[in-house]
Amino acid sequence: MGKLHVMDHPLIQHKLTLIRDKETGPKEFRELLDEVATLMGYEVTRDLPLTEVDIETPVSRTKSKVIAGKKLGIVPVLRAGLGMVDGLLKLVPAARVGHVGLYRDPETLNPVEYYCKLPADVFERQLIVVDPMLATGGSASAAIGFLKEYGCTSIKLMCLIAAPEGIERIQKDHPDVDIYVSAVDEKLNDHGYIVPGLGDAGDRLYGTK
Ligand code: PRP
Ligand code: URA
Repeated sequence: MGKLHVMDHPLIQHKLTLIRDKETGPKEFRELLDEVATLMGYEVTRDLPLTEVDIETPVSRTKSKVIAGKKLGIVPVLRAGLGMVDGLLKLVPAARVGHVGLYRDPETLNPVEYYCKLPADVFERQLIVVDPMLATGGSASAAIGFLKEYGCTSIKLMCLIAAPEGIERIQKDHPDVDIYVSAVDEKLNDHGYIVPGLGDAGDRLYGTK
């Protein structure tokens, strides 16, 4: 089963509180989500393999470490996942970005795909799927399913807030995928919203409500 990583770093927790607050408007919400994505990025990239190269400092020759192995890809689930892309790109500017567009049907809560554009070599990359909200898990599960159809084998999921139901769904549908979150909340309400959560992530990011 995929491992669940809950990031309890004080900076992440402090910023998460501000993000949750209903008085936080879109500008601040975007800035905070961007900062948290960078902070979470440290943990998500912790197991990247390293290799040694020879370099010359102004003082002597030495061996020093660089990142080896598969190249990275970041895959935001539109719309709200976009709010976590730049924060990760600050850490890994050479990563390629693929987009998967999904919205959740408000009646059935099932994900509906409307867009998919991925790097040509996506199947060779280590991927980080990003979406602030893991509620029923339907959207993230579908996004990961698309990536697997393209031959992707190395996938992590990074979300800001998860409901227990969403974690269970990913662990069942995609047991090979590790999940990184900054909080596991109490439950889903009757409309499939995370409680206490932060409301509708896309609307709060872009001020559409
Ligand atoms: C939100 C969120 C996730 C999804 C989570 O997107 O960003 O993608 O809901 O819910 P789930 O785990 O139950 O699938 P939404 O469908 O509201 O689309 P939007 O980002 O375009 O607003
Ligand atoms: N999507 C959101 O944006 N928020 C939730 O709480 C659940 C799904």
